[in-house]
Amino acid sequence: MTMKKTTLALAAALLPLLAHAQDAQIESKVAALMKQMTVAEKVGQLHQISGRLVTGPTSSDYAATLADIRLGKVGSMLNVKGVADTRAIQALALQSRLHIPLLFGQDVIHGYRTVFPVPLGESASWDMEAIEQSAHIAAREAAAAGIHWTFAPMVDVARDPRWGRVMEGAGEDAFLGSAIARARVHGFQGKQLGATDSVMATAKHFAAYGAAVAGRDYNAVDMSNQQLFEVYLPPFKAALDAGAATFMNSFNTLNGIPATANVFLQRDILKNSWNFKGFVVSDWGSVREMVPHGYASDLADASVKAINAGSDMDMESYAHIKHLEDAVKSGKVNMKTLDDAVRRILYKKFELGLFDDPYRYSVASREKAVLADPSHRAAALDVAQKSLVLLKNGAAGAKPLPLSRAAQKIAVIGPLADARRDLEGGWVVEGDRAPVVSILEGIRSHAGKAEVSYAPACDNHCSGTEGFAEAVATASKADVVVLAVGETWDLSGEAKSRTDITLPGHQEQLFAALKATGKPIVVVMLAGRPLVFNTIAEQADAIVYAWFPGSEGGNAVANVLFGDYNPSAKLPITFPRSVGQIPLSYAQYNTGRPVTDEKNVVYKSAYIDSVNTPRYAFGHGLSYTDFKYSGLTISGKEMSPSQQVTLSFDLANTGKAEGTEIVQLYLRDMVASVVRPVKELKGFQKIHLQVGEQRRVSFTIDRELLSFFNSQLVWGAEAGDFKLMVGSASDDSRLEGALKLLPPK
Ligand code: GLC
Repeated sequence: MTMKKTTLALAAALLPLLAHAQDAQIESKVAALMKQMTVAEKVGQLHQISGRLVTGPTSSDYAATLADIRLGKVGSMLNVKGVADTRAIQALALQSRLHIPLLFGQDVIHGYRTVFPVPLGESASWDMEAIEQSAHIAAREAAAAGIHWTFAPMVDVARDPRWGRVMEGAGEDAFLGSAIARARVHGFQGKQLGATDSVMATAKHFAAYGAAVAGRDYNAVDMSNQQLFEVYLPPFKAALDAGAATFMNSFNTLNGIPATANVFLQRDILKNSWNFKGFVVSDWGSVREMVPHGYASDLADASVKAINAGSDMDMESYAHIKHLEDAVKSGKVNMKTLDDAVRRILYKKFELGLFDDPYRYSVASREKAVLADPSHRAAALDVAQKSLVLLKNGAAGAKPLPLSRAAQKIAVIGPLADARRDLEGGWVVEGDRAPVVSILEGIRSHAGKAEVSYAPACDNHCSGTEGFAEAVATASKADVVVLAVGETWDLSGEAKSRTDITLPGHQEQLFAALKATGKPIVVVMLAGRPLVFNTIAEQADAIVYAWFPGSEGGNAVANVLFGDYNPSAKLPITFPRSVGQIPLSYAQYNTGRPVTDEKNVVYKSAYIDSVNTPRYAFGHGLSYTDFKYSGLTISGKEMSPSQQVTLSFDLANTGKAEGTEIVQLYLRDMVASVVRPVKELKGFQKIHLQVGEQRRVSFTIDRELLSFFNSQLVWGAEAGDFKLMVGSASDDSRLEGALKLLPPK
């Protein structure tokens, strides 16, 4: 064995030993500290309060808060940021009897100063490296600003675009969502917690928050445990396996019990079965909300139920701080339960090195340097252009995109054409963010010899039509129109459910007026969710779905429109034709009366007023080049449970531009002890090919890939026939094969 290999082998053997030693060392420090703590000081560690949204204490009503911090009655704060304010608040905490430092948490969801695409948009890249890089830069900037902990990634699977928070997640699929959860946790936390270019991550909102009835935020969730384990839990388990330091519970009830007090979720699954060693923070006020839920009789009752169910830290309910000491004295809460919660939190504070140096994340020189790092914008541009989905590019023949830079006239029209704040989307950190490049600005700076004109046509909600005449006149003088429409940033995110997910205001009317000019129209659509836009889908010449692409959004859109970046993104969520189809997912069940021919649907599982198919399918996304799939082989027609087979095929770039294809592997378990979806994503690869290049692509199929949770929640694969499909989208299967899983010997 060479010297290098020996060293690597030694390191591999030593790492677990070192980790174990560090763990034991921290555990002993925690135990020593806890021996000195009073019950009141222990309860203080479970109390998290918010600073002013901008930052730090700014007004007299903070006097009591500051006093509490000095007395060791606060364990963590959120919404305090920046070196100056985090140092000032930390200094107060260090005046407490045992000088226990605070944890500073913040919603750093898709960037701190440099804003990356909203998570749903970033998920359309299916690019784990890019997603990890985005989270790493967000962590680097946040940590430099004194923040220890981000309340991200949100890993809630969501199949209902009425729900505004679909914007914050990774879409509808457990397999893709699990890969993205891993990438985001690794990005935020880096290789070792405690490095000052990383922050603790939070897997949220535990659990099944994305399945709120009717897509109405904070509404109840009701589902079978089989569905919970098959669809909604896997991304949380992926986040935990990736080392997520904390979990955040959710506002919803799950099968009648609020997640905040749900013993099944937080103790049975998370802390016992999954052996989670970090801590659980409640979502804002969710402990207190158990009273209106009708699950707790008052705040004291809520505090007892929450901590007994495994909710360790209380965000902004003031339940633990007001009632937990009495609950322990009365025996309603066991001291062991309190100690377990406190230990989990103190462990993280030691792990972050805050007892060695409580100010180690709050260094002014580093904050100045990191927040000005130009490489962050370059990364934001890279991630943004990888997230833009080319939904349509001409019908047969003529392809309006990419636009030519030759001397032509391009009219940039629409309420979001020169928008900046909207391009950032929701859940940005208040304060001094990087300047945003608008779509108009991006097009103008990339247009070469082309002449660019502009007309907004209406305000950003398109509430009136008085500007339409000018817009039509501008379009009439151009060779091609780029129309920027969609949602403004504040129409998606928390508490932003919509019953009507069409374009707000008069935007459809604006499209019709421009269409009447007869000019080719390229639509760039901004949104934090799938929208319904059937007329535009049918009549626009090209459509680029830009989500909210962040600080570099305008440049990313221009790079795609002019072909400097060949679009590669694929939808991480289904786009319905109408809100009436929701919930709609590619991974649906066949039913006993499947529709096999859209013309013959009577007495089938269908609607009398719509086809079943979506407007755009999960995994859909076009390119400026063409890819050919051929030569499928599977290394065996049969497989015993202990074996694996290799599925391979050739992918060729048969078009005129280099490009990247996200090849997708789906499978169907034809007969099983619980019915299985007509297809499930079980693999994907991003393959970049030059013009004319061909590459052999392979996937390994093993028992794990064929497994599912049966009705007894047992994970496993059942013998029988499987259909394997590879293709460019969930509705665009290019090659298919069969595999038989043999029964165990
Ligand atoms: C909010 C959100 C949660 C966020 C928390 C702190 O209500 O539900 O995602 O992390 O409060 O801002």
